[in-house]
Amino acid sequence: MHINPKLIKKQFEKSINTYNENAIVQKIMAEKLVEEIAKINTHFDNILELGCGAGLLTEELIKKITFKNYFANDLIENAKSYITNLIPNSTFYCGNAKRIKPAQKMDLIISNAMFQWFENLDSISLYYKNLLNNNGILAFSTFSKDNFKEIRDLTGLSLNYKSLEEIKCIFQKNYDIIHIEEFSKILHFSTPLELLAHMKSTGVNSLTAQHWTFKEIKAFCDSYKNKYPEINLTYSPIIFICKKSL
Ligand SMILES: C[S@@+](CC[C@H](N)C(=O)[O-])C[C@H]1O[C@@H](n2cnc3c(N)ncnc32)[C@H](O)[C@@H]1O
Repeated sequence: MHINPKLIKKQFEKSINTYNENAIVQKIMAEKLVEEIAKINTHFDNILELGCGAGLLTEELIKKITFKNYFANDLIENAKSYITNLIPNSTFYCGNAKRIKPAQKMDLIISNAMFQWFENLDSISLYYKNLLNNNGILAFSTFSKDNFKEIRDLTGLSLNYKSLEEIKCIFQKNYDIIHIEEFSKILHFSTPLELLAHMKSTGVNSLTAQHWTFKEIKAFCDSYKNKYPEINLTYSPIIFICKKSL
């Protein structure tokens, strides 16, 4: 599926106020990322966060990691106020993370639940390597192939998720891989409509360009109930901690 940053931006703009309270799995991912980074170091002079959203990862990070300078990025302009509330003297770059040009090199580049939106991970891997100081760390979480498998099976809609092995092959060309972790988390809902509302509140309904009509929503709910005895949504997160190789 082709990724349209304008559509991603629109969906996340709508969900930014409801995101943190509904992003249960993304919060677990953020906690795991920070836990693994803290095992390597609890201080980094310059940190760059990509796709910071409403600051879910930022909030976890400032509990355990110290820094001199914090740079944050998102496609959405109003993400800035969430990060400034948490880190008043941070610098915010609005725009596409794949074109970010910070004025200095970073010691840690981090990102939670965003890399799945990148189409070309080979160029991303190299691009961020060049933004890191020697021994700098790239830490990110994303999702693997089974993510939202129920939605894919019912509608045919899915991002082009990569497997852990595929991502590892790409990043080990430019980094020493320090930690990889994959897990699965299934959320349960009372109705398919509740499941759709959850996806909307976390901005991850960016899979289609159009709003679904009432008829389409009803068809989705009916086919969900016919196919599955329970209303589940599978998340399949992956955590990567990589050190720039020399
Ligand atoms: C699932 S949210 C994750 C937010 C936050 N990282 C967290 O820990 O919850 C994904 C965020 O990435 C942003 N995003 C998606 N693609 C992006 C891109 N190419 N460049 C910058 N931000 C992007 C979205 O606007 C959204 O705020």
